[in-house]
Amino acid sequence: MKTVLITGANRGIGFALSQEYLAQGWQIIAVCRNSSAELGATEAKIIAGIDLTNPAHILRLVDQLISTPIDLLINNAGVLHPDNLGDIDYRNVSQQFIVNAQAQIQVTEALLDRLNDGAKIAFITSRMGSIADNSSGAYYGYRMSKAALNAGAKSLSIDLKPRGIAVAVLHPGYVQTAMVNFGGDISPGESAKRLVERIAELNMKNTGSFWHSNGESLPW
Ligand SMILES: NC(=O)c1ccc[n+]([C@@H]2O[C@H](COP(=O)([O-])OP(=O)(O)OC[C@H]3O[C@@H](n4cnc5c(N)ncnc54)[C@H](OP(=O)(O)O)[C@@H]3O)[C@@H](O)[C@H]2O)c1
Repeated sequence: MKTVLITGANRGIGFALSQEYLAQGWQIIAVCRNSSAELGATEAKIIAGIDLTNPAHILRLVDQLISTPIDLLINNAGVLHPDNLGDIDYRNVSQQFIVNAQAQIQVTEALLDRLNDGAKIAFITSRMGSIADNSSGAYYGYRMSKAALNAGAKSLSIDLKPRGIAVAVLHPGYVQTAMVNFGGDISPGESAKRLVERIAELNMKNTGSFWHSNGESLPW
């Protein structure tokens, strides 16, 4: 049985990914700050109490996985604080940098010893982190944090080649979750199905790619 670890698994896209992999017969390690009734009702192994911005929590997570080799790590947790020029709250900018970029690399680095050679890593980013694709401005903190995440993920894709670990940078689509006040154009379930397909296609030839969940390549 293959094992996938998913962060932010209690709700939204992370929960939908857990359901999708459960349906495909995977063992799920669902990492979250607080579990949810819907996650608790599944067969997932839940590791709660993990705030990814707290290095002690990351260490605790790694300790709990001492005998659990991981085949797929999905770094999905994230935050969005919309902002506009003239009204930027820099505490929110910092928080987005820490959650969306730094913590994603930190938890991945901490889990490297738990990943099987030949494992895969997926980062759930946003096309809003694309500099080339930015045609509407604003969202300073979110865009900068996701661009930073993309840069870190790209470095990992290069540094992990000797271990045969492939890394994907994935935009989930505009998805009906709390992050966007449920205003997206696809459901979390549809997004998760597409993301699972992209991850299945990930290999050592296309490692380091930035894809929309619909399969399009996105510009950096
Ligand atoms: N929805 C979209 O249209 C869209 C578009 C592009 C990219 N994305 C990306 O997709 C990913 C999932 O977002 P979503 O739409 O499913 O949003 P969501 O429903 O708001 O879920 C966000 C998840 O991240 C977790 N999280 C936030 N801060 C955390 C922290 N410090 N430590 C641990 N977990 C933390 C949340 O946990 P709590 O429940 O504890 O807060 C929650 O599980 C994010 O990376 C987001 O940027 C979403």
